[in-house]
Amino acid sequence: MPRDITDLVSEHIKSLSAKQPTPPKTEDAIRLDKGELPYPPSPIVVQAIAQAASTINRYPEILGGSLREKLAVYTGVNPNQIIINNGSDDSIELILKVFVQPGDEVILPIPTFFIYDFATKSVGGIPINVHRTEDFGLDVEAILAKVTPRTKVLFIANPNNPTANLVPREILVEILNRIDCLVVVDECYYEFCQETIIDLLDSYPHLIILRSLSKSFGLAGIRVGYGIASETIIDYLYRAAQLFPVNKLALVAGNAALDDQAYIIANIEQIHREKQQLISKLQQLGFVVYPSATNFIFVSSKPLGITSRDLLEFLKTKNVFLADFGLKQGLDDGYFRISVGTTRENQVLLEKLSDAIASL
Ligand SMILES: Cc1ncc(COP(=O)(O)O)c(C=O)c1O
Repeated sequence: MPRDITDLVSEHIKSLSAKQPTPPKTEDAIRLDKGELPYPPSPIVVQAIAQAASTINRYPEILGGSLREKLAVYTGVNPNQIIINNGSDDSIELILKVFVQPGDEVILPIPTFFIYDFATKSVGGIPINVHRTEDFGLDVEAILAKVTPRTKVLFIANPNNPTANLVPREILVEILNRIDCLVVVDECYYEFCQETIIDLLDSYPHLIILRSLSKSFGLAGIRVGYGIASETIIDYLYRAAQLFPVNKLALVAGNAALDDQAYIIANIEQIHREKQQLISKLQQLGFVVYPSATNFIFVSSKPLGITSRDLLEFLKTKNVFLADFGLKQGLDDGYFRISVGTTRENQVLLEKLSDAIASL
């Protein structure tokens, strides 16, 4: 008689929640809930994927091949300081797999990107939440007060998701000077703000920087992220990584996307223009809008006396989707996140928000 399967599952996996499929959306849905770029990838990327499709009977290059060299040039580091992953989510999991054993602690300044919490728990680590300040900055003393001999990693998304704000460089330097565990600075939205601390890598051997091609490069669906750190850290990460962590079409897409910087820059400029317009219209409607260094906007509906839950449920009935952060990670019931969409998508959103305010 085989043993009960549940008895065989690791205890820390049993406590993870089941994933729910998101209900299918119609073609004309306005999807501003996932921080995605609303524009398609560069035609050069599409062409490169189509050309490479006939070669997928062969495995991809180990260690990412020429994409690693290209990312090294793009970021100004040595290729041995780069690891390419199946999206940044994969980089996050790999770091935790290498550095965190069951019972170890991982500090998370909340609210922040939810995958840090999930991935920590998935390796048996313990997330230690530290509240951000009122304006979503980092509370350095509160973070340092949580450090124990079991603290292995501190995650800082910069700019942060969902709050969209950027922590000043001097705060990051102070943290790096005063903490001895691994510090992961996630620069997933770097291209939108152009703020980086890559230049500090040589001075701080406990620093890892994460980047992604999902957002500004518009490759969310094919999954390419990368980490930048000392050669020692990258060596350990690659030891634990799968032999072929990134599929061949993703490597080709990443290569082609980096070759078409002009397309990326034009998209980023367009997002910035759309964002400014969206922010001023949201403010006119009475929302509180927080400073944004990303392609999304963090908003409070509190002054309107409407909960984010009610607002977003109303929008859903109009086929418009935003991300609700009400009552999550220590926030009150009035917070939500809007990814900047196309001109038309943003217009429809604003119309539906006015309707919501009038009817709720
Ligand atoms: C801060 C942050 N890091 C990482 C990711 C994940 O990026 P990827 O699509 O490369 O897995 C996201 C996605 O929303 C994010 O907001």
